[in-house]
Amino acid sequence: MTRRILVTSALPYANGPIHLGHLVEYIQTDIWARFQRLRGHRCLYVCADDTHGTAIMIRARQEGRTEEALIADMSVAHQRDFAGFQIAFDHYGSTHSSANLEICKAIWSALRREDLIVEQDVTQLYDPEAGVFLADRFVKGTCPKCGAAQQYGDNCDQCGATYSAAELIDATSTLSGARPEMRTASHLFVDVERRHELLEQWVQEPGRLQPDIVNYLKGHFLSEPLRQWDVSRPAPYFGFEIPDAPGHYWYVWFDAPIGYIGATAEWCQAQGESLQDWWRSEQTEIHHFIGKDIAYFHTLFWPAMLQAAGFQLPARVQVHGFLKVNGEKMSKSKGTFVHASTYLAHLHPSYLRYYYASKLNGRVDDLDLNPEEFVQKVNSDLVGKVVNLASRTARFVQETGLSPQYPDDEGLFAAAAAEAEEIAKAYEAADTARAMRLVMALADRANEYIDRKQPWALRKQPGRAEEAQAVCSVGLNLLRQLAVYLAPVLPDFARRCERLLNVPVRHWDDVKTPLRGTAVAPFEHMMTRVDPKAVQAMLAASAEVEPLANAAAAAEPPASVSNVHAGASPPPRRTPAPTNASTGTPTAKSAATSATCTLEDFERIDLRIARIVAAEDVPEARKLVKLSVDLGERETRTVFAGIKSAYSPSDLVGRLVVLVANLAPRTMKFGVSEGMILASGEGGSELFLLSPDEGATPGQRVR
Ligand code: MSP
Ligand code: ZN
Repeated sequence: MTRRILVTSALPYANGPIHLGHLVEYIQTDIWARFQRLRGHRCLYVCADDTHGTAIMIRARQEGRTEEALIADMSVAHQRDFAGFQIAFDHYGSTHSSANLEICKAIWSALRREDLIVEQDVTQLYDPEAGVFLADRFVKGTCPKCGAAQQYGDNCDQCGATYSAAELIDATSTLSGARPEMRTASHLFVDVERRHELLEQWVQEPGRLQPDIVNYLKGHFLSEPLRQWDVSRPAPYFGFEIPDAPGHYWYVWFDAPIGYIGATAEWCQAQGESLQDWWRSEQTEIHHFIGKDIAYFHTLFWPAMLQAAGFQLPARVQVHGFLKVNGEKMSKSKGTFVHASTYLAHLHPSYLRYYYASKLNGRVDDLDLNPEEFVQKVNSDLVGKVVNLASRTARFVQETGLSPQYPDDEGLFAAAAAEAEEIAKAYEAADTARAMRLVMALADRANEYIDRKQPWALRKQPGRAEEAQAVCSVGLNLLRQLAVYLAPVLPDFARRCERLLNVPVRHWDDVKTPLRGTAVAPFEHMMTRVDPKAVQAMLAASAEVEPLANAAAAAEPPASVSNVHAGASPPPRRTPAPTNASTGTPTAKSAATSATCTLEDFERIDLRIARIVAAEDVPEARKLVKLSVDLGERETRTVFAGIKSAYSPSDLVGRLVVLVANLAPRTMKFGVSEGMILASGEGGSELFLLSPDEGATPGQRVR
């Protein structure tokens, strides 16, 4: 029976870049969705950026631009990263969309109709200078328990105490440095307790949630009356204003999950499908993939909201643990906080897809990325077992193609075909670790067969060419079975096998019938070994760029600066970048210099002398010139610079320039830009490249 399945990943926050931790989830979900499609089910995979809330509002203020401009840029960056990892969403939306607003309104009226909304006063810390109520993470002060200074408003990382922000001693706002005051405002709450029974039943339905999650919910929430859920925030707030409560906005966590429906609605609109079919029909299974930190939003509030508004409740919420690196929390200073884009600049996405697949077992446990194990696993499994099977057989049957009759193979093909349901069961349960183990065991058996038969030796013996062809035909058919079984994890590898064997991988059941007599294309490289140096380079690049990138992403500006005002758009307060010649977007003109930075801050930027060795026009780009720059020590980089309006390529060759050498590589339409060259001026013909005095040589550091 064909199932109709809607699958989602959590909506990533629009206030930061995608990193390897996020990718655990998006890779896990994408594998699951691809698996379902390969099984012949209808499977729709939607996601969106989560765009609302105080953090986005504050960051937009800091950057001196609108929230809309900020989230538009983030959406492009997120989608580029996801595409780089071959995450195949059917639709990627935004919570800040009219489709989402419509559904928020519908759910809100339903909650009102059901009389589930109650109003109550909330007294909270308020920053009189920034003009905003302060969420816990925007307050710092001395721990009331142990006296440790500089602790956040919710818990102390010295003694582990939890408290409310109001209990902090000598609290200050991280937004302005001001002393917060207590202010009272009315908030709107959902009375979730009135759906207690429904939830209790829903969470215990078999197959719905992992046992760990059921226990957590029972232990922490369902054993007592559920607290009312605060779903509104007073202005100023970046979000949707509540239609029947002017001056109040829906809290980001109200409209975020509704974004799943909003994104589906946009897809339906574009495809001529009906939203009813996907969200109001018992024929649809809804599967949410999320991390353990957000489990209660998805398992308590969300089903209650859906139920009240007559939507279909999730069939399953699949929760994964957190990514650690070397057994520790990802750390910016240790270089283990790796952005998706940094990974992609150094390594192929298939490696990480396979590595995560081999670690994810469908449970809530955290998982560890260990760089040595990463290299070892990918090289020994994917390259040593799977790709090796192709490289040891394909080239010998290029002229003849596969045998016209499938040869006797000692029962190997049938045995591998018989594993189909077992492997499928593991995928279905999101236990890809088990699926990968089963597939690698098949690869071992196939390789053992080839080892024994030695087709390379056979074909040299007179009269045994046909036998050699038979052995290779077996090898390639076993390879194809592996390609089908691995296709959800390694779509790229499946495509290469399709090209090699001239037959598409369409369905899980393709493992059942061997190919006969098909032509074999010239063998091309399917996957190269992971170079441990590339992994080291990725970590090094993360250590270098993270502190800066992080400063941009962090919600807290330096406490000493206090020019955030409600409603106003102050000039940028972060150190403005020099004119961004690489991308052709000059940053805002600012007469006054920026907030002070320390010498350390400055030294994080690796400025180098470089020589332009080649320059060419990028005809399709309005501003860009493509440069090759020599960095000394035989290192050459490609940089796209937005200087076309002021320089012609022929004037540039041979010049020395100053390069930001540790800027995260940026994938552009025309290629990857691996740095930025410095220039001053406003753009247009007013652009001036910086150059060093006589005597400087490529590679020298600028300090
Ligand atoms: N915006 C919310 C989700 C709203 S869903 C209606 C959010 N965003 S997030 O960007 O912080 O996280 C997105 C997803 O990535 C979450 O499921 C989260 O658990 C997951 N991860 C974020 N960091 C992670 C790790 N370090 N490791 C594993 N997963 C992580 O939460
Ligand atoms: Zn403490």
